[in-house]
Amino acid sequence: MSQVDRSKPLTRNTHLIHWVEKIAALTEPSAIHWVDGSQDEYDRLCREMVAAGTLTRLDETRWPGCFYARSDPGDVARVEDRTFICSLSRDAAGPMNNWEDPFVMRRRLKTLFRGAMRGRTMYVLPFSMGPIDSPMSHLGVELTDSPYVVVNMRIMARIGLPVFAEIDRDEKRVVPCVHSVGRPIAAGDRDVPWPCNPEKYIVHFPETREIWSYGSGYGGNALLGKKCFGLRIASNLARDNGWMAEHMLILGVERPDGEKTYITAAFPSACGKTNFAMLVPPPAFKGWKVWTVGDDIAWLRPDAVGQLRAINPEAGFFGVAPGTSAATNPNAMATLASNTIFTNVALTPDGGVWWEGMTDEPPAECLDWRGQRWTPEIGRTTGATAAHPNSRFTAPAAQCPTIDPAWEDPDGVPVSAIVFGGRRASTLPLVYQAFNWSAGVYTGATMGSETTAAATGAVGRVRRDPMAMRPFCGYHMGDYFRHWIAMQRALSVTPRVFHVNWFRKDESGAFLWPGFGENMRVLEWIVDRVHGRAQARETPIGWTPYYEDLEWRGLDFPRERFEALQAVDREAWRREVLDHEALFIDLHNRLPKEMVYERELLICRL
Ligand code: OXD
Ligand code: MN
Repeated sequence: MSQVDRSKPLTRNTHLIHWVEKIAALTEPSAIHWVDGSQDEYDRLCREMVAAGTLTRLDETRWPGCFYARSDPGDVARVEDRTFICSLSRDAAGPMNNWEDPFVMRRRLKTLFRGAMRGRTMYVLPFSMGPIDSPMSHLGVELTDSPYVVVNMRIMARIGLPVFAEIDRDEKRVVPCVHSVGRPIAAGDRDVPWPCNPEKYIVHFPETREIWSYGSGYGGNALLGKKCFGLRIASNLARDNGWMAEHMLILGVERPDGEKTYITAAFPSACGKTNFAMLVPPPAFKGWKVWTVGDDIAWLRPDAVGQLRAINPEAGFFGVAPGTSAATNPNAMATLASNTIFTNVALTPDGGVWWEGMTDEPPAECLDWRGQRWTPEIGRTTGATAAHPNSRFTAPAAQCPTIDPAWEDPDGVPVSAIVFGGRRASTLPLVYQAFNWSAGVYTGATMGSETTAAATGAVGRVRRDPMAMRPFCGYHMGDYFRHWIAMQRALSVTPRVFHVNWFRKDESGAFLWPGFGENMRVLEWIVDRVHGRAQARETPIGWTPYYEDLEWRGLDFPRERFEALQAVDREAWRREVLDHEALFIDLHNRLPKEMVYERELLICRL
């Protein structure tokens, strides 16, 4: 097959060409490749990575177009402690972000990136976050020395020639992103399958809208459109321009009579956003349908008449594999059945993949995410899992059987409700509705959740994760709350705000709620509240459903169990409010007064 020459610029934009030359002079790659985004290019990069041992092609009959990658064991998750917001002032970044003086950081990055791409190709990867024709979209260019990043980004974003064409129209600002795995290849040296560097830096300059990432090739550390641009830089763009960049799924609920209601939901990483976005209604909900618009990020903007509208800036799902199965999420399983890249799951002897929870029966034998032989017996005796808990699938959103017909609508979809949710063993009921917008902002702002394997660090510790944005808000969290409060003024109708908790446990430690498809019962109540059809009881924390308000057909769920699940324990809430106070003390110098008033009102009601 003849190979096109991709060493020449694919843009007329001289700023871009000069910037590429400047970064190439700094990082000294052996070649430059302008990414056209074609299938041919993707196939060739995959073939090269198979030859290099980075990718394994899965069995073509059972896993058509799928590849498998195994990362370095030290490069398996987002590194929040190595993520920096380098705003001009430390205070602008706030206490929840790591900060470094931008001048100092630029010097450090210059040293790190000097010669960092030696022996490698530098890919010039243009990408659009959001459909290219959408006024809500934004453009970026990632310079990366990782072909793994290029092929993953081709699934996760719109990339290549159409984006260069958009850049050449010169109407939109382009966010420059520089990424290196930080492992140059010296002359005569051999490369490793997963190059990375123990020293990692994920750096954002919010004022100049720049991203620099060094040392990691994994997920949100390296696919810079996702967390770095889609949330940290975008949250700055959004605050300055009257919109919102949120860590939210977007779904549409369609009733049998055709009424459709769009809802966004913010849950922390690895708390079931993908499953919720692809929910399959239980049999009792015949004729109901849940449509998927996005599973991780929502960009929300009021339209000309003050209706909040949302786009999913991504084009793929970078989903957590463990726990995903035909029973828990058949739509995800159908989505990832072809053209998917799996990372850090287990490889089965017949050229397939497996992860904990995918099937009841584990394979008799496989290679685990470290490449070592794994059997159920080894798992039992050593406690080692076959797949890493943060192993992922990168799958095209268009392959999702429930993808919403409007998922690429340039104007986005109208949002009627916002749901917050954490992973909480106690205190937080299954569902409640905030009294109004500012109480809703308080609910999101004080959200707590047990930590998961999506980031390095301890797992299972409750931490405050405001709006599920703690690791992703690119500026001071107090200012972020103020922006949320202020958004109301641009809206003619505010979305109703809810909080859910699928994870409450009884005294024996068992989950009180079955979750998954049964969450439809909660969703129905939310939809009915939005449309003024459902009853609710006033409690100190907000409106909650009566037992009678939820549909119970097809689920044996006794009233007492529901009462336990919905209980508002005043003692527990007093402790909860003290923890809210601890958060507010951290943010005190920029905390909007509405948050203090809301807390006072909550204390009075308790
Ligand atoms: C993700 C995350 O990858 O939140 O979406 O970690
Ligand atoms: Mn996420």
